[in-house]
Amino acid sequence: MLTKLEAAIQAAGKAGDLLRDRFKTDLVVREKSPANLVTDLDTQSEEIILSALRASFPDISALTEESEKTIGNYNGERWIIDPLDGTTNYIHGYPFFSVSIALESNGKIVLGVVHDPIAGKFYSAEVGQGAYLNGEKIHVSNTTEMKQALVGSGFPYYAWESEDNNSQQWAKMIRKVVSLRCDGSAALDLCMVAAGVLDGFWELDLEAWDLAAGSLIVQEAGGKVTLADGNPFTPYQRSVLASNRKLHDSLLHEIINS
Ligand code: IPD
Ligand code: CA
Ligand code: CA
Repeated sequence: MLTKLEAAIQAAGKAGDLLRDRFKTDLVVREKSPANLVTDLDTQSEEIILSALRASFPDISALTEESEKTIGNYNGERWIIDPLDGTTNYIHGYPFFSVSIALESNGKIVLGVVHDPIAGKFYSAEVGQGAYLNGEKIHVSNTTEMKQALVGSGFPYYAWESEDNNSQQWAKMIRKVVSLRCDGSAALDLCMVAAGVLDGFWELDLEAWDLAAGSLIVQEAGGKVTLADGNPFTPYQRSVLASNRKLHDSLLHEIINS
């Protein structure tokens, strides 16, 4: 009998194997909305994850990106799943994408796994137990100066249509930190903060399946996670600011004063 953490890691690994094997092969690509693409691999990955999780835990429901609803009988526990976070990267052959699986229990995220199949990395956390990369404990960075900070961000799919598309925040932040990165997988970006590679990460329009696992991993690695306006974090209010804690207020200041 697998634990829930083992089941999530195993499911993410199976989906990751498929994504890695099919990377840079022919894909069926469809537009969900302008600039928001989905492939046959997103769907196949989701099927693999659901069947792997159900083999061990048939009674836990799931909120998944590709079905966009809770599947199964919801009794306080559900998996929150992004079967391929970084679809645009995947389509372009940019090797930065992930599988994200979280477990929510009575409204709280209690477990998170983010798998980077190209790098062979499994980031994981359970509430109160610390954060791990391939079984080794990880911590956020010790950077205290904005001038030394490497910070990640991303742009919403509606960036073509709205002025409120993070470009003002981006333009302000680049004058304060050593550099910015836009790597295209929010779940994995959050793990970069947890592992101390990025000192912070913010984004303004994300879904619960982008945020649930990675936000717990950052917190368990000693980092701080709020909404991008500084309010208490929930994966259901679309935005995030994650940091090594020490830089949180300075990063927030730049974001909210843009
Ligand atoms: C996207 C990625 C990207 C972020 C987008 C997300 P998807 O998820 O996390 O980094 O900028 O807003 O929707 O669509 O590739 O699963
Ligand atoms: Ca996503
Ligand atoms: Ca996705």
